[in-house]
Amino acid sequence: MNNSIKNYTPFDLTRLRDLLGDLAGRFDVDHIVSCDSTNSQLLERATRGAPLGTAVVADIQTAGRGRRGRVWQSAPGHSLTFSLLWRFPDRFSLAGLSLAVGVAVARALERCGVDGLALKWPNDIILDGRKLGGVLVEVAFDERGAAAVMGIGINLKSHPSWSNLEQPVACLQDANCFAGREALLAFILGELAIVMDSFSRDSFAALRDDWLARHAYQDLPVKINAESRQLIGICRGVDGEGALLLESESGGLSVMNGDVTLRGA
Ligand code: BTN
Repeated sequence: MNNSIKNYTPFDLTRLRDLLGDLAGRFDVDHIVSCDSTNSQLLERATRGAPLGTAVVADIQTAGRGRRGRVWQSAPGHSLTFSLLWRFPDRFSLAGLSLAVGVAVARALERCGVDGLALKWPNDIILDGRKLGGVLVEVAFDERGAAAVMGIGINLKSHPSWSNLEQPVACLQDANCFAGREALLAFILGELAIVMDSFSRDSFAALRDDWLARHAYQDLPVKINAESRQLIGICRGVDGEGALLLESESGGLSVMNGDVTLRGA
């Protein structure tokens, strides 16, 4: 075990419950010192019937994953890594769910005093043009409906192993935010409770304006890779289902979803 793994303070569940106050009753949070991925742990609990509001927070993830099969790098004491389970009735549309989660995370970080946050479609939390965090939503279906596992990773302070990553990363400390993991998680769960209630009632459409207000590429030129095609155009935000809107040079509007990556052009 290297020093950075030994020298960190384990997550304090009692402190989290105190900080959650009245909201503590809406969540059942479990702390794991080390696991492969909090999403994997929670998906397994979901298949065993875990209720809405179950969450897992880990100090160490040995196989954290991101969107499009990427590895999610985290380091104990340097990252917040957790997943939350939410259940939806049969046939309820989950379109835009990962964007809704991004809105909740952004609102929570702003409440912690972080300025200059932006959201990049579909699930990146951006600080000053660099990636501060990400959201990975994975869904299991059964006869009762959909169990959505919403995994969230946030960089708190920089770690030497992140300096060579393909995409430059930002940390909360860059924004002079030194909140501990318990406080951050309490803020994020508080905002997720509000956002999930809204999403369950009115779908993503009710959260769209909040997402657009933080959109990193609104009305800017972008390059989009979609199924081995590259498209260039002006990003016109997202529709009421969270699909990306791209205006081509000829003025036509494409609605894009799925396995798509977006970059500034
Ligand atoms: C992305 O930006 O591609 C999504 C990253 C999501 C990372 C979080 S960390 C907690 C949860 N467990 C995982 O394995 N992934 C998510």
